Order: sequence, then C-alpha cells, then structure tokens
Amino acid sequence: MSSTNPIGIFDSGIGGTSIWKEIHQLLPNENTIYLADSKNAPYGQKTKEEIIQLSCKNTELLLEQGCKIIVVACNTATTNAIKELRAKYNVPFIGIEPAIKPAANQTETETIGILATKGTLNSELFNKAVETYSNVKIIEQIGFGLVQLIEEGKMESEEMTGLLNEYLKPMVEANIDYLVLGCTHYPYLIPQIKKIIPEHIKIIDSGAAVAKQTKKVLEKNNLLNLSEEKKKQIFYTNSDSKVLKEILGFSNDVFEKEF
Ligand code: SIN
Repeated sequence: MSSTNPIGIFDSGIGGTSIWKEIHQLLPNENTIYLADSKNAPYGQKTKEEIIQLSCKNTELLLEQGCKIIVVACNTATTNAIKELRAKYNVPFIGIEPAIKPAANQTETETIGILATKGTLNSELFNKAVETYSNVKIIEQIGFGLVQLIEEGKMESEEMTGLLNEYLKPMVEANIDYLVLGCTHYPYLIPQIKKIIPEHIKIIDSGAAVAKQTKKVLEKNNLLNLSEEKKKQIFYTNSDSKVLKEILGFSNDVFEKEF
C-alpha cells in the first residue's frame, strides 16, 4: 500500500463531514475520499445486521478506490460493525465512540448527558463503556428525527428547535455539566443547542480525537503522505448533493453516484 493512497471516510450521510473537517485540518497533506450513504440514512434505526451489511458495502467501495485506511465516521456504524469490519478486511480502521471518557472524568456535578442514536445507545460497545463509569450518572437520550432533519438541511427549523428542547431540557433539569454528542451529525446542531442549554454546560464530540488517532495509526504504519503532489479531496453521495455542498462550503469535487 502506498502512502500517497487516500484516506477513506464513510458515514450514513453528511454528518461525518464534521470528522472529515478535523482530519483535513490536522492532515492537510492527505488525499481523502468521503462517502455519504445518505440514501440509507439514518443507520440509527436499523438492525445490527443491516448496519454491518451497509458498512461492508461502503468499505468495499473505498477499498476499490485504493484507500489505505478507513475512518468509520459514524457512531452507529462503529458501535455496531467495527469488530466485523476489522475481522473481514486487511486495512486499518478508525472508529468513533461517544466521548464519554473525558466527560465522565471531568464532570463536577457527577451527571453527564449523552445524545445519540438508538443504534449507538443500544449497542454492546456503548454499554460496556457506560459500565466503566458507574460512579457517574449518565443521562441517555435518543435523538429521534435529528439525523433526517440534518440530512434535509433543516438545522435551523422550528421542528428541530422543538425536538432539541424536548431532548435537552430534562438533561439541564438533571444538572448535567457535560453534554456528549454521540453522533457525527450532531456537531452541525451546536449553534442551536447553545441557544437551549446554559453556558456552563460543555459540549463535547469526538472529532479532534479521531483526527489525532488517524494520524497516529498512519505514522505507526508508515502511511503518512509526504509527497508534494497536489492533493485531492473527493466526496461522493448517493443522494441529492445540495446540502452536502452547502455544509462543505464548496461544490467542486462533490459527486452524485449510485452505491
Ligand atoms: C445515523 O445514521 O443514524 C447517525 C449516524 C451516527 O450515529 O453517527
């Protein structure tokens, strides 16, 4: 495998671009290929078997494009399928788990909130992580409907505000001081979330940690791209590319494709 090969990143849709942005910022000298499987979003409502099957399909597409490492930029796919992916494909995988650890270690009210999909909150991997922090009260909330609205570009809609109020108010009342965003789509809601929760509650997601881990694994495998050729950042979506282009802030290198 050549170090000039791209980093492959996939998500159930456009949310994983929050991870792509962190990776691109930390590793600007890398080629990247991003797959937005928006046609099949949300993964959070699917069965484990369906999530594994979709994750394998995305991985195979990225491997066909020569990707040297795969970032599963989706909490639901990581918590349900990363074990199977690692067993099946001979390439390093980086997964995303909700950032419970930093929140649980730093909370002063001993109460933290986590907003994630049903698929993530019900997964074995997530529940094992929660068991480790039995000294902290963890308030779990499924973000029903949020991913669909984000995919439709309705981050600032009344419907979104209504759902966020419903999901976050009980956490505020329970005195959380950390809110963990356990879905890569949710960082796009931070401006709306900040209007609802008090300022002292810290919002954390896993983006920066995932970028650092990607760099570490590339270094360890001698796969960091040191070439001086112009780099490419390519995005594929199997749905309408309008919202993807809007959140990226550019439209070149964004392609609609069947997969
Ligand atoms: C979803 O597709 O339901 C959200 C993906 C995620 O968990 O990051």
